Amino acid sequence: MLIEALSVFPDMFETVISTSIVGRARRAGIFDFRAHDLRDWTHDRHRSVDDEPYGGGQGMLMKAEPLIEAIESIGAHGPRPHVVFFTPCGERFSQHGAERLAARERILFVCGRYEGIDERALAWGDECISIGDYVLTGGELAAMVVTDAIVRLLPGALGDEQSAREESFSAGRLGGLLEYPQYTRPASFRGMDVPDVLLSGDHARVAAWRRASALERTCRCRPDLVDGADLTDQERTRANE
Ligand code: ADE
Repeated sequence: MLIEALSVFPDMFETVISTSIVGRARRAGIFDFRAHDLRDWTHDRHRSVDDEPYGGGQGMLMKAEPLIEAIESIGAHGPRPHVVFFTPCGERFSQHGAERLAARERILFVCGRYEGIDERALAWGDECISIGDYVLTGGELAAMVVTDAIVRLLPGALGDEQSAREESFSAGRLGGLLEYPQYTRPASFRGMDVPDVLLSGDHARVAAWRRASALERTCRCRPDLVDGADLTDQERTRANE
């Protein structure tokens, strides 16, 4: 997979792309990453990428021409990229969205800055994504969040293939519930004890405790997820209590 980013701050990506699991996956050739400087597609002396909004209003907008020229010229070589614009007006990103993007051969992330993007440029994108209901100063951090969520799903990126499948939000064994609480050594620390059941060696009891804890945590922290979770009748009754 090839992930590319179009940005006025292409250097922002370097640390994320070269560190930890994402960095290892890149060095292993599981994916490659390229950042492009949007200013390379400007033609004026000031290399300007923004201008005032028609109709008045606060702040500056990203101009359509450099964005469209850049998208066309980056896409002119190799497989056609799936073009994603980052904006708080996009569709909310989710684990399902990460799984969908992880199946693409080539993705181009277009990172907005300033108060917004000239609407005409958006026609050159396949989708608009928001990473949450808050406003960032630009799309670069959003692109890094999405890159991280995609890369860890790519085959071979995580040492243990299982760990990508059983966690919160995946449709796997937890059926859309948040992950259950986990503990590691020591068994007792400052008067806080690991639940006895986890030390019992009884796999069935451990599994039942984890399932009940995942349900309890989901009801408490993310009640909005409960309706869509895959629950037994008994669990559904407990969730509604
Ligand atoms: N740009 C600014 N805020 C954003 C957000 N929440 N998601 C994606 N891109 C953004």
